[in-house]
Amino acid sequence: MSPFAVTRTLPEDATGAALRADVLEGLTGRPRTLPPKWFYDARGSELFEEITALPEYYPTRAEREILAARSEEIAAAAGARTLVELGSGSSEKTRYLLDALTELRAYVPVDVSESALTRAGRALVAERPGLDVHALIADFTAPLALPATPGPRLVAFLGGTIGNLLPAERAVFLASLRGLLAPGDSLLLGTDLVKDEQVLVRAYDDAAGVTAAFNKNVLTVINRELGADFDPAAFDHVALWDAGHEWIEMRLRSRVAQTVKVPALDLAVDFAAGEDLRTEVSAKFRKEGVRDELGSAGLELTRWWTDGAGRFALSLSVAR
Ligand SMILES: C[S@@+](CC[C@H](N)C(=O)[O-])C[C@H]1O[C@@H](n2cnc3c(N)ncnc32)[C@H](O)[C@@H]1O
Repeated sequence: MSPFAVTRTLPEDATGAALRADVLEGLTGRPRTLPPKWFYDARGSELFEEITALPEYYPTRAEREILAARSEEIAAAAGARTLVELGSGSSEKTRYLLDALTELRAYVPVDVSESALTRAGRALVAERPGLDVHALIADFTAPLALPATPGPRLVAFLGGTIGNLLPAERAVFLASLRGLLAPGDSLLLGTDLVKDEQVLVRAYDDAAGVTAAFNKNVLTVINRELGADFDPAAFDHVALWDAGHEWIEMRLRSRVAQTVKVPALDLAVDFAAGEDLRTEVSAKFRKEGVRDELGSAGLELTRWWTDGAGRFALSLSVAR
């Protein structure tokens, strides 16, 4: 394997079947929804990196604190020779794991964002000449084909990104992930924890408006890729805590009654004034729920760490 290989399983043309199908289904259904993976074009990935540095957005700092303290324990328990990372983005926090995994031969970052993967992959091979980096441009909710790299494998899924999947989607995702693992392979999972509503809402509705720009970026993506005429200024960014489901919802609320045209789908969508388009769910977790969901997929939770303030958890589970 060359030190930096990129494999694409997503269509070269983002107007491919997946975006069309998601936009058609999401904009014609009730409530109107869009899957969060379409936030992440190059601009969306940059905006997400800005979010991680915001004072209100504690998850990145909390998870980094755990990784800084626990990566050696994680590495000793996993003994991995391949690290696969789902939704790897900038791979910034991953460096703690890469430093600690002394037997590591290959790093396989998996992301829908080609720009984030390329930037992170190039930086990593320059920093770590001995490491094979095999980037996979892929959707982790679709069946994944991992490159043939040495085991054992450690799959890292950081950032609380698993919370962007609905409970039924998580069950399918975890079962299919378990199917990729051999007995003894491990999963390192970052989960944001249930906490005070104000803290949660502020994390998704920051004072500087970066999360609002990130949220509206999905409209820009649909305008560019499908020729739509969304006016981002005609929508308000909304972050809500759903206490029943224990998740945050990000929405775009139509400021006025308006019709949006999506020519590539031959579609006109009427929004009433005040009507919401749900763009992201971010579930918050409790230890027992995480243990149960992993267990149902054949993954045994063996370790659980939180940051000092108890805001965020990393769990290690083993494929049995
Ligand atoms: C919340 S960010 C987390 C990034 C990084 N892991 C972190 O902890 O800072 C989610 C990442 O997952 C990627 N992503 C979102 N949905 C995806 C999907 N369905 N398949 C692959 N990557 C996805 C995004 O491009 C983004 O890099």
